[in-house]
Amino acid sequence: MPIAAFVADLDVPGWLCDAEAEFLIRAIVEHPTGGLCVDMGSYAGRSSACLAFACQLRGDASRVVSIEPFDSIHTRQARVTEETYWANLRRLGLEGYVTQHVERSPGAARHVADASACLIFIDADHAYQSVAADLQAWLPKLQPGGVLAMHDFRRGWILGQVWEAAHDVLPQADWQEMQTATGLGWWTKPGQGE
Ligand SMILES: C[S@@+](CC[C@H](N)C(=O)[O-])C[C@H]1O[C@@H](n2cnc3c(N)ncnc32)[C@H](O)[C@@H]1O
Repeated sequence: MPIAAFVADLDVPGWLCDAEAEFLIRAIVEHPTGGLCVDMGSYAGRSSACLAFACQLRGDASRVVSIEPFDSIHTRQARVTEETYWANLRRLGLEGYVTQHVERSPGAARHVADASACLIFIDADHAYQSVAADLQAWLPKLQPGGVLAMHDFRRGWILGQVWEAAHDVLPQADWQEMQTATGLGWWTKPGQGE
C-alpha cells in the first residue's frame, strides 16, 4: 500500500497529523540501514502503527519499540488501555513488528542497546525536565545517521517546553522544524549515513 494511502486510511486516534505521519514513515523507509524505531508515548498506537508500517515496507529486521505507561489522563482524548493499543495494531496486521514496554521514560531506555535505533520519536511528557531527561537517556541509543524526531516542537508553547529543552540539551544541534498543526522537530545524529 502506498504511504499516503496508509496514512489517509489510518483509523487510530492520536495527535500525529498526516504530514508528520508521512515524514516518520519516509524517514525510516529511506534510512540507509534501518534498525530499531522507538515510539515514546504511544497512546492508542497511531505513531506506533506508522513506524511499524515503515518496518513492514522495509522488509528487513527493522522493528518498533513502544514505550507507554497507559497511566496518563488526557483532556482532549479518552484514556486508553494496553488492550486498545494492541487491538488497533492487530486490526492493521502490524502487531508482529512491535515490542512494548508498559513503563515510563527515561527508565525504559535500559531496554534498548546503545547505537541501535535508526529513529527515535519522542511524544511523551512535554515538561522541560522530562524532555531533557528523555533526551539524555535516549540520545546514546541513536545510531550515527539516525533521526531524532519530537512532537509539539513549538517555541514558547504554553503546554510544553519541548523546543526549549531540545535546544538546551543539544546546543549545537541543527534542528529542523515542520510547520504543521501540531509541529514536528527533527535532528539527524552526525556520522554514518549523513
Ligand atoms: C500525546 S500522547 C502520544 C500520542 C501518540 N504518539 C500519537 O501518535 O497519537 C502522549 C503519551 O505519552 C505518554 N507518556 C507520558 N509520560 C510518559 C513517559 N514518561 N514515558 C512514556 N510515555 C509517557 C502518555 O501516557 C500519553 O499516552
